[in-house]
Formats: sequence, C-alpha cells, structure tokens
Amino acid sequence: MNKYPREHIAFITGASAGIGLELTRKLLAEDWQVIALNRSDFPADDRSIHDAVKRGSLRIYKTDDLSDYASLRRTLEAIKSKEQRIDILFNNAGGSFPKLSYSKQGREMHYELLTVVPYIILTELTALLKMGHLKTVVNTSSSAFKFTKEFTIDILERPKSFRKLIGPYATSKLALSLWTQAIASQLAKEGIMIRSVDPGGNNTLRRGKQSGLPLLVAVLMKLFFSPPTHGANKLYEGALGEHRAKTGVFLLKGQVTDLKFKDQALNVLDRIQAIYEHEFVPPKS
Ligand SMILES: NC(=O)c1ccc[n+]([C@@H]2O[C@H](COP(=O)([O-])OP(=O)(O)OC[C@H]3O[C@@H](n4cnc5c(N)ncnc54)[C@H](OP(=O)(O)O)[C@@H]3O)[C@@H](O)[C@H]2O)c1
Repeated sequence: MNKYPREHIAFITGASAGIGLELTRKLLAEDWQVIALNRSDFPADDRSIHDAVKRGSLRIYKTDDLSDYASLRRTLEAIKSKEQRIDILFNNAGGSFPKLSYSKQGREMHYELLTVVPYIILTELTALLKMGHLKTVVNTSSSAFKFTKEFTIDILERPKSFRKLIGPYATSKLALSLWTQAIASQLAKEGIMIRSVDPGGNNTLRRGKQSGLPLLVAVLMKLFFSPPTHGANKLYEGALGEHRAKTGVFLLKGQVTDLKFKDQALNVLDRIQAIYEHEFVPPKS
C-alpha cells in the first residue's frame, strides 16, 4: 500500500546520479511526482524513469552548472512558471572537488554550490513550497565537518589552504547546516520546516569522474560503503520520519545532532542573504 498518495510532489536537485537518483526512483515507486533539477541526463537505460517522464510524473528541468547564476536563474524561472507547488524540496546536488576552483561569480566552488545555491533555490521556490502540503526542506549535508577545527566567514569565502573532503567541502557543508538552523524560525512563520541531513557513507564513485576524495577514502568507499539507496533512505527519513515535526535540526545517523560553531550561524545566513539580494536578484528596471 502506498503511504503517500500520488498528489505528493518532491523537488530534487542532482537527481541524475547517486543518492538523488535513488531518491527519485524510490519516490516514483511510491507514486510521488518528482520535479528534477539536473545538469546531466538520467541513465538512458532506466525504464521506470522514462515511463515516469512519459506519464508526466517526472518532470525534468535541465540546467548548466548549478553554480552559474545566469543559468540557474533561467531554470528557476521556468520551474516557477510551469509548476503549481512543491511538497518537499531536497537540496541534494553537489560533491567534493579535487582542488580549489571558483564559480563564475568568483566564489570558492564548494561554498557556492553547497552553501549559497541551496539558499537561492529555497528562496526562489518558497512560494511553491507554501502552496505544498508538507512544506518541508531537506538540505543534504555531511558529517565530514566533524574534522573542522576552525570556522569563520573568511575561511569559508577565502580558503587559504585546500584539503580534499575535510577542507572547503566540510566547511561548506557545515555552513549549510548552520544557515539551515538559523533560518528555521523565519521559515516557521510561513509554515515551512527545514532540516539538514547527513546521508551516511555511500558508494557513489563514477567511472571517468574525478572524485575529490582522499585516496584512502575512495578505496574504502569502493570496498565498504553502502549503495546510494542508503543515502536516499536517510534523506527520505529526514523528510518524513520521526523528526518530521522538528525544524532547524541536523540529523546524523537519524539522530538530532548538535552543530559546531553555532555562534556563526546567523553570520552565515546574513552573508548568503546579502549575496542573494545583491548578486542573484536582477536589479529592478
Ligand atoms: N556519497 C556520500 O557518501 C555522501 C556523504 C555525505 C554527503 N553526500 C552529499 O550527498 C549529495 C549527493 O551526492 P552523491 O554522493 O549522490 O554524488 P553523485 O553521485 O556525484 O551525484 C551528485 C549529483 O549532483 C549533481 N551535481 C554535482 N555538481 C553539480 C553542479 N555543479 N551543477 C549541477 N549539478 C551538479 C550531479 O550531476 P552530474 O551527474 O552532472 O555530475 C549528480 O546529479 C551531495 O550533496 C554530497 O555532498 C554524499
């Protein structure tokens, strides 16, 4: 029996591979509708995905790199003009990069993609979320920040050094969880709940794609990590499971877990709100 009837609509970024793809498959199998915001195509040989597209249960919006504001703006405008509502927004797209790189706007790439862009997507889609039945946002975070020893806006914006996974990737995921916490009371006034969720360790290595993981972690991932259905279940539980009435929290292994550097949460939120207002919103003509 389907627990959640057809009318539920999930919005998933980075649904074309890994955890996002498995979450898409799971929700479609439960008769959800899925709106996917993807850079790449879904696997060509996946029948259920293609059937869902034909039925209209899966609607795909293609974008260039999500960190490119011009492309993101165009795609979000198309979504806002075509979609009626969103019940759950999963900000999932991302990953770790092998070296320091910068977005078109000039910000460090992890920070742009993993911290700032989810805020832009949420803000732009708030009106659709308010029309939804579940009014829930799940930001995919990572426990990699348990190794973070220093955290300031400056380190986030201008990392002086680089380490795979435990450097800018971890700091940017911490910043994501921090603004998730900081924005919760604001969103509660609109009836929206938001949580950040660690999806656990998942083997999402892809042939031909540089992983941005330290060699040892990549080997461990290949040998011992769970398939990405594990992470999909964690995100699903984070949205609909026992903590569904809580907002602002970070869920690690399914438990509400305290964040480091909580004193920085409002600073991060203020900073990304300013970026959104000054750089994303087009000036009024
Ligand atoms: N795997 C883990 O163990 C683990 C652990 C903790 C947290 N996470 C987080 O879980 C989320 C999903 O990761 P995953 O492991 O499923 O990785 P994945 O298999 O590489 O999938 C990532 C998805 O995000 C998309 N994406 C990445 N960068 C993008 C960009 N710049 N613009 C547009 N789309 C982009 C990818 O599109 P393309 O196919 O075009 O690359 C893909 O659809 C990420 O936020 C990751 O940080 C993963």
